[in-house]
Amino acid sequence: MSTRTKIKALLESGEVDIDVTVKGWVRTFRNNQFIALNDGSTNNNLQIVVDFENTDPAILKRITTGAALSVSGRLVASLGKGQSVDVKATSIEILGDSDPEKYPLQPKKHSLEFLREIAHLRFRTNTFGAIFRVRNTLSFAIHTFFQERGFVYLHTPVITQSDAEGAGEAFHVTNFDLANVPRTDTGEVDYKQDFFGKSTNLTVSGQLEGELGAMALSDIYTFGPTFRAENSNTTRHLAEFWMIEPEMAFYDLKDNADLAEDLLKYVIRYALDKNKDDIEFLTQRLLEEEKQKPQNERSELTLLEKLQFCLDNDFERLTYTEAIEILKESTPNKKKKFQYLIEGWGTDLQSEHERYLVEKHFKKPVILTDYPKEIKSFYMRQNDDGKTVAAMDILFPGIGEIVGGSQREERLDKLEQRMDEIGIPKDELWWYLDTRRFGGCPHAGFGLGFERLVLFVTGMGNIRDVIPFPRFPKNAEF
Ligand code: 4AD
Ligand code: MG
Repeated sequence: MSTRTKIKALLESGEVDIDVTVKGWVRTFRNNQFIALNDGSTNNNLQIVVDFENTDPAILKRITTGAALSVSGRLVASLGKGQSVDVKATSIEILGDSDPEKYPLQPKKHSLEFLREIAHLRFRTNTFGAIFRVRNTLSFAIHTFFQERGFVYLHTPVITQSDAEGAGEAFHVTNFDLANVPRTDTGEVDYKQDFFGKSTNLTVSGQLEGELGAMALSDIYTFGPTFRAENSNTTRHLAEFWMIEPEMAFYDLKDNADLAEDLLKYVIRYALDKNKDDIEFLTQRLLEEEKQKPQNERSELTLLEKLQFCLDNDFERLTYTEAIEILKESTPNKKKKFQYLIEGWGTDLQSEHERYLVEKHFKKPVILTDYPKEIKSFYMRQNDDGKTVAAMDILFPGIGEIVGGSQREERLDKLEQRMDEIGIPKDELWWYLDTRRFGGCPHAGFGLGFERLVLFVTGMGNIRDVIPFPRFPKNAEF
């Protein structure tokens, strides 16, 4: 095999008048002469100039959109507009044909909905190439951030017995023959006969196991897939999504919020540095898309400006109680424009409320803290007021909740009392409670929804477009 150069390296090297071999997929072929070749290393295509008079017509016919090629030739300064270099081809080998009559990805504009149906091919578009390169960078940046700070990457189990969030939205894991499920004498499903000898599910969060690690390693983080069987057909929910969950011993709620804000700024900056071309492309894409909208629905800032703005400003921090006051007095509440009107203290915030706070009121990311205990999970640390817990949610423009976290209840008696109140079986979580029995200490952590982060950084509007193969109700294709 001849040494192949990736197009990104070739375009960045600035070299000319050298012999190169490139490999990639044809985006377009114009006038039997100009191939736009893309190999996924960059959004920029390489222009191949074909000496069509001296090329076998049988080969020319096979240079079609989608075909895989190996091209050798001379890299020269381009005479044309739009690119700095061309490759003057001396040999073209067809590695894989692509029947132009049948290839679903014609060289024209396709809707995002259509591309979702051909998710196996959508990587080959400029938009999805950019999205998945940015996604890659963000995941690397997350590891870099934590590794630089001495956090231990902990792999928590995918199959668990606990429903950490207590929301009952877990997918069962079983190897029972579903047509013939063993029953006990009283007619209940007999999980003793199941693979694990008990009822198990896919994890909804690695937090509880993460806490166990933090009680020895001090600072840990998880970064893995999580699964929720919520029947939410929204642009912000997936049934399978990736979550980053750091857990830190000796942190309180403020330390927790500081770390989350630092993390978000760090990874956004990292992507801006590493994927400038892609983010510029996505910024243009969004501008084009927003031209279809009425003026008052368009963003005030471009994607690039929005990301920069997020880096340059402190996130606004306030309590749930303060937020409720703002919302109660807000115009959409008074004019009954909210679907769910804010009447009093204690109700959960809907995404319309979160977005009002972030997009209209503060116009920047917001960290909301100290929520009513009734609307939050059992493990959150109870505040002295007896009404609220040391919870925090981070809300982002266009996204709503991107991070959820809290300081944890480290006091055994308070934790047990809360579990009893909500009806969480203590015997099943004996191992979790043990950390409170043996050297428990103040600690805190949060979960960052990775796809929501990718949504924000790419400016895309639907979470199904920022994960390669989205899982959502009635869809597990590919
Ligand atoms: O707020 P959540 O449910 O918090 C937890 O799971 C905690 N155990 C985290 C912790 O403290 N360690 O989820 C955390 C984040 C949300 O803020 C959101 O960004 C994302 O995970 N998320 C989802 N993303 C996509 N699809 C879904 N169905 C999601 N559910 C939550
Ligand atoms: Mg949450």
